[in-house]
Amino acid sequence: MIDLTSKIVFITGAGGEIGSATARTLVQAGAEVVLHDLSTEALAGMSSDLGASAHSLTSDLGNPLATGDLWDRAVAVHGRIDVLVNMAGVYLSAPIDEPLDGWLNVWEKSLAINLVSPGVLCRGAVRTFAEQPNGGIVINIASRAAFRGEDPDYWHYAAAKAGIVAMTKTIARHYGRQGVTAFAIAPGYVDTSFNQAFRDEFGVETAAADTGLGEVAMPQDIANVIAFLASGLARHATGTTIDVNGASYVR
Ligand SMILES: NC(=O)c1ccc[n+]([C@@H]2O[C@H](COP(=O)([O-])OP(=O)(O)OC[C@H]3O[C@@H](n4cnc5c(N)ncnc54)[C@H](O)[C@@H]3O)[C@@H](O)[C@H]2O)c1
Repeated sequence: MIDLTSKIVFITGAGGEIGSATARTLVQAGAEVVLHDLSTEALAGMSSDLGASAHSLTSDLGNPLATGDLWDRAVAVHGRIDVLVNMAGVYLSAPIDEPLDGWLNVWEKSLAINLVSPGVLCRGAVRTFAEQPNGGIVINIASRAAFRGEDPDYWHYAAAKAGIVAMTKTIARHYGRQGVTAFAIAPGYVDTSFNQAFRDEFGVETAAADTGLGEVAMPQDIANVIAFLASGLARHATGTTIDVNGASYVR
């Protein structure tokens, strides 16, 4: 049922664990992917695995101004993009008893990568999609933290992801008539090195015990939902956020 043949999908953070599972899943469903990450090393394995279906771009999303150019470079690869997946993210600790300047540095970096640069890419996407005959789809990776809040050292992360959800709703409400649909996905604990600090301190079984399923999600569980949204089959669900958290937090 999910056929992405002839769709061009741009994925940020595509060298990461959820990003690479997503790229592979979308290519298996027929898509061509434009992959982004911080460095060519992060994408090295992906390009060779996916062959002609993948093109790679690098940039630091810590610089939102430069991110405008990233969108233009992504569009230039095939002359159009059908789906934007804002996947890249960071999870940086900012303890409350840090000196204020260090605490603020983490906030600024986290907001730049987790919220402002995704916003710049959405801005580019909405402008481009509005000009394309078939419009386009925005898929923003948020987090359970947007709704439930996050552990004490990660206020900025929860705030950034809540911003992602609000931004996604705004895009959906105002640009649908121009062919733009927009979705957020809010994963709970996914078993990747993103959670290394939690794994080391509490173990993955602690996260699993917190879910209704008794298990944590794997990157493929998120990739499957992205493939569904990228297909266009969920068009009338625009503006929604899909929780993928094993019922660890039911809204
Ligand atoms: N793993 C989880 O439990 C979990 C839960 C909820 C949401 N998420 C979200 O899922 C997304 C992917 O997470 P993941 O678990 O695959 O982590 P990951 O660390 O494997 O992937 C993140 C990717 O973002 C890239 N990135 C980081 N900083 C960057 C920068 N400045 N410029 C460009 N790229 C940069 C990294 O190089 C990496 O490839 C993130 O947005 C994260 O917030 C993850």
